Amino acid sequence: MYYPDELIEEVRARNDIVDVVSGYVRLQKKGASYFGLCPFHNEKSPSFSVSPTKQMYYCFGCGAGGNVFTFLMNYENDTFPEAVKVLADRAGIKLPEIEYSQEMKKTESKKAVLLEINKEAAKYFYYQLRAPQGKTGYRYMTERQLTDETMKKFGIGYSNKFSDDLVKYLKQKGYSDELIVQAGLGIFDEKRGTHDKFWNRVMFPIQDINHRVIAFGGRVMGEGEPKYLNSPETMIFDKSRNLYGLNFARSSRRENIILCEGYMDVISMHQAGFTQAVASLGTAFTAGQANLLRRFTDTVILSYDSDGAGVKAALRAIGILREVGLTGKVLNLEPYKDPDEFIKNKGAEAFQERLDRAENSFFFEIRMLERDFDTKDPEEKTKFHREIAKKLCAFSEEVERENYIEAVADKYHIGFESLRSMVNSYAAKTGLAQPLQRPKSGIQKKNTPQDSIKRSQRLLLTWLAEEPQLYPKIEKYISAEDFTEELYQKVAGHLLEGLKSGVCEPASIVSLFEDEEEQREVAGLFNTKLIEMENEQAKEKAFHDVLLAVKKNSYEYHMQQLSGDVNALKLAVEGKKALEELSKTHISLK
Ligand code: UTP
Ligand code: MN
Repeated sequence: MYYPDELIEEVRARNDIVDVVSGYVRLQKKGASYFGLCPFHNEKSPSFSVSPTKQMYYCFGCGAGGNVFTFLMNYENDTFPEAVKVLADRAGIKLPEIEYSQEMKKTESKKAVLLEINKEAAKYFYYQLRAPQGKTGYRYMTERQLTDETMKKFGIGYSNKFSDDLVKYLKQKGYSDELIVQAGLGIFDEKRGTHDKFWNRVMFPIQDINHRVIAFGGRVMGEGEPKYLNSPETMIFDKSRNLYGLNFARSSRRENIILCEGYMDVISMHQAGFTQAVASLGTAFTAGQANLLRRFTDTVILSYDSDGAGVKAALRAIGILREVGLTGKVLNLEPYKDPDEFIKNKGAEAFQERLDRAENSFFFEIRMLERDFDTKDPEEKTKFHREIAKKLCAFSEEVERENYIEAVADKYHIGFESLRSMVNSYAAKTGLAQPLQRPKSGIQKKNTPQDSIKRSQRLLLTWLAEEPQLYPKIEKYISAEDFTEELYQKVAGHLLEGLKSGVCEPASIVSLFEDEEEQREVAGLFNTKLIEMENEQAKEKAFHDVLLAVKKNSYEYHMQQLSGDVNALKLAVEGKKALEELSKTHISLK
């Protein structure tokens, strides 16, 4: 941690979570909490809750949860110190200078300067396009049917005919030749010195997920080579980890994200209302990009060119999507080459129809495979079927595999049983694909006894966080050791300690954990869904049951540990006593 805990706590306490989250999500009050559409996954009805008493948010759909800091870290992609800084500024709290190591200081400030330079350049290009000298650029963009509004949204600019004016401008702003080159905007050679990388092109600023300009693409106006010139990779521009348009698409709230190849495709789609479009910046789609997308959607619709290279790229992308657990679909825009051309010729409605008909990526793969075989020839046809069978082995889940076998058999007129036995014989030889390790989701898996114990412990923590006045009534029965999960025990320790001295700040406990996954889990502990009880009596019974379940498990757990641990004996004896007493005691919730 960079700042003292008390300072972090002050920053947290002075930023009301409802206020902060309201800046990003439309919230509506419902009972003691506020609800809205979750910004961390796509949904149609609100399962994202913000609790003013607990000062925490939690999504019952995807399990995202935490306090003001984690909210900014997840929403804005901020690091913890960045989130602290933003919120301290917001509350007018002055932070002490962070003690970075010399090395870190250098890298961080270098990155900050490179971002600054790119921002200056973007402003410069933007201004040029709208000035008299930018007429050709402006006309080119208008001819490509971009509206002023669209050009503004994407920050379209123009690098004029002089090949050193940007460098001059930046130097006059105080940036050195070296920095300008490192920012990707200047090139140095002996003859000309430092000069502009881009000239006489319309300019597309590339922004990261937080709208910061990190690079540029520049297009010749008309014919010429290269058609697009792009910034080189720099300290702030890693092509494999960014997607053009994602800064807008991330908040589009659509059921899918459309992945295409080009700048102009993204812009045309956004202009036509398809604000979920992104492009992979002219390079092959990477696993890093797939992981980035997974934060915002579970379905990616591929829109690559229909030529050979496009199909190959699509097939590769399908594999990558599958690997990270995303559903892939393939858009068919024939007879047009790309989304830009399609929309220009057919319009938004027709495009939507094509989206609705996007092909299942497995069927697309099979259809492309078929082109390699002359299926009129029985031998070739058999080979084709064998290849299909091999591909079907990739489905590790039986139900899914069976469904696909059935669908493919039907589609290609292969007997279901014979295709299935072919798949099984391949699987026997080469094995089925390993089941995917999908990331944690909010979806409940089947319930084990272990799960139900954990649930009781979570319920108790949530209950105490929401109704801290209950604590004195159960103080003598419960201690942190009763929470047998390691993480739960730590959290309970902090919560009970606070309650003992009359404070209940669950949100502050979140920030005591450094790991993001842990913070999320901690938030979950305070946000277990309490069942609505019809009356006070039922509620009292439920609370008693939860308390009893936690105690019982604790007692059994410590009994098991008896052989090796003296403290466990003490806990077990005490536990037994408490348990007996508790089962006879009525605890009023009033
Ligand atoms: P395309 O050649 O398909 O161009 O390249 P496009 O997107 O249809 O462009 P317009 O409509 O002619 O303006 C697709 C993408 O590949 C990258 C760019 O990101 C481009 O948008 N590319 C292409 C380059 O980086 N350099 C090039 O020379 C060509
Ligand atoms: Mn195009």
